[in-house]
Amino acid sequence: MRELSLRDEYIAQVVSGRSFTEVGGLWGVVNEKCSVASRNGAVSIKMVDILAEDDPHWVKFQNRMSSFGVQDYKCISADIGSPGFDCSVVKSDIVHCSGVLYHHPDPMLMLSKLREMTGEYLVLTSVISQERVENRKGTFQVPPSGVVFVPSLRDEERDVLKVYWQEDVGIDVARGIIDKVPYDLSKSGPWWWLPTENALRSMIEVAGFEIESSDLTWSGNALTSLLKIRDA
Ligand SMILES: C[S@@+](CC[C@H](N)C(=O)[O-])C[C@H]1O[C@@H](n2cnc3c(N)ncnc32)[C@H](O)[C@@H]1O
Repeated sequence: MRELSLRDEYIAQVVSGRSFTEVGGLWGVVNEKCSVASRNGAVSIKMVDILAEDDPHWVKFQNRMSSFGVQDYKCISADIGSPGFDCSVVKSDIVHCSGVLYHHPDPMLMLSKLREMTGEYLVLTSVISQERVENRKGTFQVPPSGVVFVPSLRDEERDVLKVYWQEDVGIDVARGIIDKVPYDLSKSGPWWWLPTENALRSMIEVAGFEIESSDLTWSGNALTSLLKIRDA
């Protein structure tokens, strides 16, 4: 198991002399990878995020890029999953996307959009479900082929997973697991789907990628992968 710096290692391996697009790098800002791509020789850089143009995260991102002396990049406010979104506008040799897939009601659509905008390699990180979680609230089990649909969790299942994410992993942002939330197909805030590692690998392959390298990250709760496009 590796930690999240693996994303930077994968970008560094492939980005020199290539164009680079990041999808969904604004939240938290410090996790953006456009500056990593720049440091490692990307020839053009784009940040795409669903946040509106006037959202303060864009200014924070631009300030951060300035602090690294990076001036030449494009900012695009767009929902890559919206039906009218034209992937060719953001297509690059190398695409990075982390923390987005499980926030969308249709993760296979998101993977197909990422495939459309990737010229060579996608560096993807997404949260996975453990196959078995056991704690004082009980046991939660999913087969290796399983994908947890978070809105369907029963109270007793949510109780087990809430203890896992809050106490074992130590995060409070697993919306829909930590707390019951109203689900709305137009909202990407809550967590929607959590595939097991095995299921996520299969989803990636079905979407048209070969897994060139991958490892568990985030203490075993995410899969980070370097994905090469499979020829049609
Ligand atoms: C949980 S944050 C992940 C931030 C960072 N990449 C990381 O790994 O820490 C999800 C980011 O993706 C953006 N996002 C969510 N859905 C999106 C979509 N459909 N199209 C573009 N950006 C999206 C959000 O605005 C947010 O900045």
